Amino acid sequence: MLSQKDNEMICRVGAGTPGGALMRRFWHPVCTSAQLPHPDCAPLRVRLLGENYVAFRDSAGSVGFLEELCMHRGASLALGRVEEGGIRCLYHGWKFSVSGDVMETPNHADPRYAARLKAPSFPVREAGGIVWAYVGPKELLPAFSRYAFMDVEPSHRVVLRVNVACNYLQLVEGGEDSSHVGVLHTNMARPGWKENEFTPNPDVVNPAALASNDLEPALKIEDTPFGFQYVALRKTADSQVRNARVVPFIVPYGRVIPAPAFLFTVLEVPEDDTHTSTYIVVHGDAPVTEAKIIELLGLNDPEYYDRKNCTFTASWADSFGQNRELMKENWSGLRGVEVEDATIGLSQGPLYDRSREHLVPADQAVVRVRRVLLESIKRVMENQQPPALGLDLRGVSACDRQLDEGAAWQDLLPSHRQTVAA
Ligand code: FES
Ligand SMILES: [Fe+2]
Repeated sequence: MLSQKDNEMICRVGAGTPGGALMRRFWHPVCTSAQLPHPDCAPLRVRLLGENYVAFRDSAGSVGFLEELCMHRGASLALGRVEEGGIRCLYHGWKFSVSGDVMETPNHADPRYAARLKAPSFPVREAGGIVWAYVGPKELLPAFSRYAFMDVEPSHRVVLRVNVACNYLQLVEGGEDSSHVGVLHTNMARPGWKENEFTPNPDVVNPAALASNDLEPALKIEDTPFGFQYVALRKTADSQVRNARVVPFIVPYGRVIPAPAFLFTVLEVPEDDTHTSTYIVVHGDAPVTEAKIIELLGLNDPEYYDRKNCTFTASWADSFGQNRELMKENWSGLRGVEVEDATIGLSQGPLYDRSREHLVPADQAVVRVRRVLLESIKRVMENQQPPALGLDLRGVSACDRQLDEGAAWQDLLPSHRQTVAA
């Protein structure tokens, strides 16, 4: 349970809010590289932390990130023309470079006027198939954190964005909640559930493919420089606790989820208090295709996922596509892992009030997420550094393995204790 005051503190991310101040200390994904596919392509309207921006790729391929409304008289630059090394406002033709230089002001031709102005622009990086921007205080610009998925060749990586109309914390909490995997994702986690016979899922790409049938994992948690890591210990067939699934929480909204042969890095980026862009990056030592991941996640139905706008469009209008007839064989009656997770997040409402819930020991990692975020907000209010800021995150990983007799679970991923500055 969380008081309404603390719930508001963590969930609200707009300008001037404590949670918004924490968020504004970090670099954020703002779109996928694929959404700006070539030089001078159409610009993209971006909503981030309750504010609107425009992202565009100029003639040389560099990406710019500006406030959405033109500094002249406020027309949206997302309608603008991207040409000749900048973005040009449709209304009176003012033109801006990726760094915010005012290149032309056709209705006031004196070049000295343009030279005195600068459009509000923000630092941008492009890495791992994602465009990242920093919109926080200029003097506090942190080092850019790299993730392991940024170092693999593009054929070994898939980047997807899924916009979901609920608060980011609902989706974050689902990611730090091991005990839901064997239930919500029953069909992928525990094939054979109908016959009460556990047969491990052979799909090495599926992050819900559990190695054990145990629905009541014991959780242990340890703080780390990037947030925390926790293990879900599950009993295997001979009733010994032998299976360990380790998942990190990266402040303010990141996690890594293990599949047998791939890792899923998931970042729940708040567009505003009631909308989230989920970035899912799959990477591993072998090639992986977008078609495979889209199918696995259940996003291969245009009725429920708009691939052009990256939006999850399922709604209560048809109970999120839930198929009651199918539920005789399929636990959830929903299409796949992400459809199940996003639907549950949406079912909690736009911004869930946590003051009326009933927690159990299996929710410990969810509780720790809230505590770490509240502590991080407090640190920022006191002008201290939050966890994870400016760290090299390439050593942050996840695993689902057998734990040898007498072995410490923390030794499964020793890099978690050695995280260093970027
Ligand atoms: S409003 Fe953009 S040029 Fe006038
Ligand atoms: Fe899930």
